[in-house]
Amino acid sequence: MRLHQCCNFDDFRELARRRLPGPIFDYIDGGADDETTLRRNAASFDDCDLVPNILRGVRDIDLSVTVMGQKLAMPFYCSPTALQRLFHYDGERAVAAAAAKYGTMFGVSSLGTISLEELRSAHDTPQVFQLYFHRDRGLNRAMMARAKHAGVQVMMLTVDSITGGNRERDLRTGFTIPFRLTLAGMLQFAIKPAWVIQYATHERFRLPQLDKHVDMGRGTMSVGRYFTEMLDPAMDWDDVTEMVKTWNGPFCLKGVMSREDAIKAADIGCAGIILSNHGGRQLDGSRSAFDQLAEIVDAVGDRIDVIMDGGIQRGTHILKALSLGAKAVGVGRYYLYPLAAAGQVGVERALGLLKAELERDMRLLGFTRIDQLSRGNLRFRHPSSPLQQADVPR
Ligand code: LAC
Repeated sequence: MRLHQCCNFDDFRELARRRLPGPIFDYIDGGADDETTLRRNAASFDDCDLVPNILRGVRDIDLSVTVMGQKLAMPFYCSPTALQRLFHYDGERAVAAAAAKYGTMFGVSSLGTISLEELRSAHDTPQVFQLYFHRDRGLNRAMMARAKHAGVQVMMLTVDSITGGNRERDLRTGFTIPFRLTLAGMLQFAIKPAWVIQYATHERFRLPQLDKHVDMGRGTMSVGRYFTEMLDPAMDWDDVTEMVKTWNGPFCLKGVMSREDAIKAADIGCAGIILSNHGGRQLDGSRSAFDQLAEIVDAVGDRIDVIMDGGIQRGTHILKALSLGAKAVGVGRYYLYPLAAAGQVGVERALGLLKAELERDMRLLGFTRIDQLSRGNLRFRHPSSPLQQADVPR
């Protein structure tokens, strides 16, 4: 299969699997423990059916939304993800350029491999900076100040990774940042020479958001160890309240799942929350964001922007989430596989396909604007679902 034959998530995933050394593919692809949550994230959309409307005059479709004060040409954005230059030598440059082409937001990770300043100056589309709360409070303050100075619009604090998830695929291969591999892991690199040559002949791997502050053990530290040793499990609501004030702009928490936490996030002045279980990579057995979405929208949807990520592979998944009340959704693996498969053209193809699906599905569902979507277009299969009563327009 070639890039131009890729039609969907599974196709891009397969191309990435062929191109990447096994340990790197598994780092993207894997989840925590038994990967139950990872599977549930995608499956949860299948418990919900769309009820289309007909004959509504749906020639012109407007997919734009405003989320946390940012105008996006379409209701999905590229969530911040780590280590992108391991997947393709252009890394975040490719993802940011593709997102900008489609007029949507992109996130830059604390563990990003291109500096937030370079990406900010390259594009006009809204940029999120994803922050982990480090033990070193000076580092947290310095990162926020850097992002503000560079003109980053939205600060996104990840709150679900206070310690490393148990990612057994990575333990088996010995995946580290960048590498300290087991023998089996090394063999997997040897059989992907094209990747090895590209990696070796491009600029040196760096973590420019962190490298002035953190000794990554001369380039060999596992993501789990980074979480466990560098991040501060003592982080609490007082710390975050202070950060929201310091940032003095749109601030959101990524990884909120409970109603109580959503209410607290609204109380301390967050502009948004991202319902997320970190792509099934942290607490296995955690509920999927889509399953939890209605409860959270009902609790705080009139006060802050509720966003979700996890398991989005289709335009219809996005329409289901927006119909339930999400303001936008994030994608992660959906753009990482095409990045690994083909760099910027791969990401552009993936974003373009998802946008085309959304437009087609909006027409088939009978709507022209995102704000027309409501719970009235959804029916849940499980008879005891509280959402059976959810046919109230939002
Ligand atoms: C991960 C982190 C780095 O899930 O976000 O691997």
